Amino acid sequence: MKNTLKQFEYAKFCKYADLDLIYSECSGPGGLQLTEFMAEKMQLRPGARLLDIGIERGYQTCFLAKEYDVSVIGIDPDDGRLDGIPHVEHLQRNVHAWEVVERVIGVKLGVPDTRFASNTFDFVHSTTTLEMVRGLFGVDYYRQCLAEIYRVLRPGGIFGLGEPMHLDVPIPADLSPIYTKGGGVGPEGWSKCFATVTETANLCHGAGFRVLEADYAPDAWNWWHQFTLHDPHCQADSEGEARIIQQDGGRWLSYGYVIAQKPY
Ligand SMILES: C[S@@+](CC[C@H](N)C(=O)[O-])C[C@H]1O[C@@H](n2cnc3c(N)ncnc32)[C@H](O)[C@@H]1O
Repeated sequence: MKNTLKQFEYAKFCKYADLDLIYSECSGPGGLQLTEFMAEKMQLRPGARLLDIGIERGYQTCFLAKEYDVSVIGIDPDDGRLDGIPHVEHLQRNVHAWEVVERVIGVKLGVPDTRFASNTFDFVHSTTTLEMVRGLFGVDYYRQCLAEIYRVLRPGGIFGLGEPMHLDVPIPADLSPIYTKGGGVGPEGWSKCFATVTETANLCHGAGFRVLEADYAPDAWNWWHQFTLHDPHCQADSEGEARIIQQDGGRWLSYGYVIAQKPY
């Protein structure tokens, strides 16, 4: 029994320690460390029904199902940037690799139009997704996404939101041209995507949630640093996002989270 446990712990350690693998399957800072951080903050419990919004290849979705024994519906409306394969198909591959076939379903859908019945989920989890939606479609659309999350959560249900956020300071002068120029999302439109923790918590409050906790993640800068070293796009283009993040050095860019409850 002890040996089996040790072997399992060893396998688990290896799986979590291979940052090149993790960052090739996820998209954004933090990888599984972020997901574990969010799961602990949300106090996931076995058997709960969780909606994961913006799953990319579903690696973190499967991790949640495996480690916390929750049933997950993962949604993502898009196809992979590089291979054109729907993200939900990648999820299917990961579902088998993580042996969570019975516990995870992928659906090609996005917020705010999820079509789930009201009061369906015990938990909603979303990381590094809604800020992109805000950057592309504006804050009113972001509010619509929050309203949809509120609708599909059951009363008492918990929403865990993690996003790249900026510190509550002006953009440093040398970074301002980089973060504010351009109209789209991505490095040149990051100022349109990112908000402070307070702004984000206020938006959740405005959607009807009771904000239980909101802060910058203590490991935020470590996650961004890992991202520059292990994300395949950063590895392929060290003069792109990786360079900007290094130049920032944690002066403006961070990573924040909000844990919020739909009142009973
Ligand atoms: C940067 S990835 C984040 C993946 C993962 N959650 C993480 O933390 O690394 C953002 C994902 O959100 C998806 N996405 C974009 N718009 C969305 C929407 N309206 N609803 C749900 N997912 C969306 C994208 O296709 C992409 O897979």
